[in-house]
Amino acid sequence: MPARLVVLVSGAGTNLQALLDATADEAYGATVVAVGADRDGIEGLARAERAGVPTFVHRVKDHPDRAAWDLALADSVAEHEPDLVISAGFMKLVGPDFLARFEGRFLNTHPALSPSFPGMHGPADALAYGVKVTGCTLFVVDDGVDTGPIVAQAAVEVRDDDDVDTLHERIKVAERALLVDTVGRIAREGFTIEDRRVRIGHE
Ligand code: GRF
Repeated sequence: MPARLVVLVSGAGTNLQALLDATADEAYGATVVAVGADRDGIEGLARAERAGVPTFVHRVKDHPDRAAWDLALADSVAEHEPDLVISAGFMKLVGPDFLARFEGRFLNTHPALSPSFPGMHGPADALAYGVKVTGCTLFVVDDGVDTGPIVAQAAVEVRDDDDVDTLHERIKVAERALLVDTVGRIAREGFTIEDRRVRIGHE
């Protein structure tokens, strides 16, 4: 049975598209069973619809408070019985209910080399700091901001003429490849988390 992925998005959804494309091959070992979002009208949702994948949307402002939103989001994700939940450009921090329900199987992709430059502006912060190498990090979500155990990373050079957009686009090329490669390996081989150390294929 292929591993069941629920993917959460907030924007363009190019990481989601990379996963959708990869899962078209049965040998990949995973399938996207649903896509969730925190807003309407985004290309990420349109990509899911074009692929025939069910979608759900929970906007924070449609719920009485953040905890209610978190619970509703977790319920919708759980309905699809995921083996892995993947935050791919999902621009919200989930709360304790969500984390507890999907502990150890909720992954996020971040456009910086953790532990450097956590938060919403990884590419801009790397550029402003003047680092020559940055990259992307796939990690297991914990209750911090981009602090969870690291599953995989890829390095990306910073060029002298980069602006935030050119740098972020170059990072996203690496990010999509890392996401597809790593999620596939996890789906086929499993993974373990011991303290902060994540190992793929050592069950
Ligand atoms: C990615 O770089 C992700 O890490 C960041 O936002 C970007 C989303 O890109 N948080 P997309 O929506 O997958 O194209």
